[in-house]
Amino acid sequence: MKIDLPEPAPREDRLARHLFVGADVDEQTLEEVRQVLLQKRQFDLGMYKDACIRRRIAGRVRARGFQQARAYLDLLAVDEEEVTALMSAMTIHVSQFFRNPSTFDVLREEVVPEMFRRLRREGQRELRVWSVGCAGGEEPYSVALLMEQLVPPRMRYSILACDITPVVLEKAREGLFDGPRLTHVPDELRDRHFSLEEGRWRINERLRSKVKFCTHNVLSDEPYSEADLILCRNVLIYFSRPDQARVLERFAAALPENGVLVLGRAETLSGSSREQFTVHNPAERIFFKRGCAER
Ligand SMILES: C[S@@+](CC[C@H](N)C(=O)[O-])C[C@H]1O[C@@H](n2cnc3c(N)ncnc32)[C@H](O)[C@@H]1O
Repeated sequence: MKIDLPEPAPREDRLARHLFVGADVDEQTLEEVRQVLLQKRQFDLGMYKDACIRRRIAGRVRARGFQQARAYLDLLAVDEEEVTALMSAMTIHVSQFFRNPSTFDVLREEVVPEMFRRLRREGQRELRVWSVGCAGGEEPYSVALLMEQLVPPRMRYSILACDITPVVLEKAREGLFDGPRLTHVPDELRDRHFSLEEGRWRINERLRSKVKFCTHNVLSDEPYSEADLILCRNVLIYFSRPDQARVLERFAAALPENGVLVLGRAETLSGSSREQFTVHNPAERIFFKRGCAER
């Protein structure tokens, strides 16, 4: 039996169907995009990993229906919404309540109770938390849920949660989450602190008021220098090695002696920060700031 194969498409059609991919983003396009984000959003792409950026730019070029970069760059020059969309595409905002639950188990069972005891011995009343790269708020609200269980009488806690992307912070302030984000929240906690609104879970006003959200670029803005506990999880992976080391050194400088740093499961100390922390739990990436005498 003879099978009729379709004629090959004319060359122009084949070219026209070419999917714009990361490899098509040349040096000049990269530099122009970098300048737009720097000038319009004070966001420095120079600090992010190259291949990752090219893929994401290509994703936006395709999303706007272009097959070459020039037309996209022209749009970027005049369309503020596209600048925002590109900014958002550059950063990944995936998160979940109690992401990596075993990390929160160690915080609940060992780290946070000891921090409250130590602060009390030192005559302090407040445990201050800084969540860096907090995305939609799942991480700082998880800490708030944890603190509600652990805070001793006459002690309190505060949480500052920062991210570079304003749109995710708006969502975080709303405190409204799809069910799968709450997979690791025990039913009892969920029923106590959330209410159902048209199929989504809203964290209650009391806990929302415990978390202050702010826009902050951890690579270039001053660190929060009051924190006793810093969580910076799944953020450093997007930075180059020298920038990771620089951010970690700033955390070390900002934390007091015995202050606690929690990184993501795929992240670790680098540069001179290695001498400034002791490893409390290697698997959960929990580190304690050394005192001057120990270094
Ligand atoms: C994958 S999410 C991590 C969310 C949460 N920490 C967690 O582990 O589930 C990474 C977040 O880091 C933020 N981010 C990326 N670069 C940043 C920077 N330079 N300064 C502050 N936040 C940044 C992104 O906007 C994104 O929301």
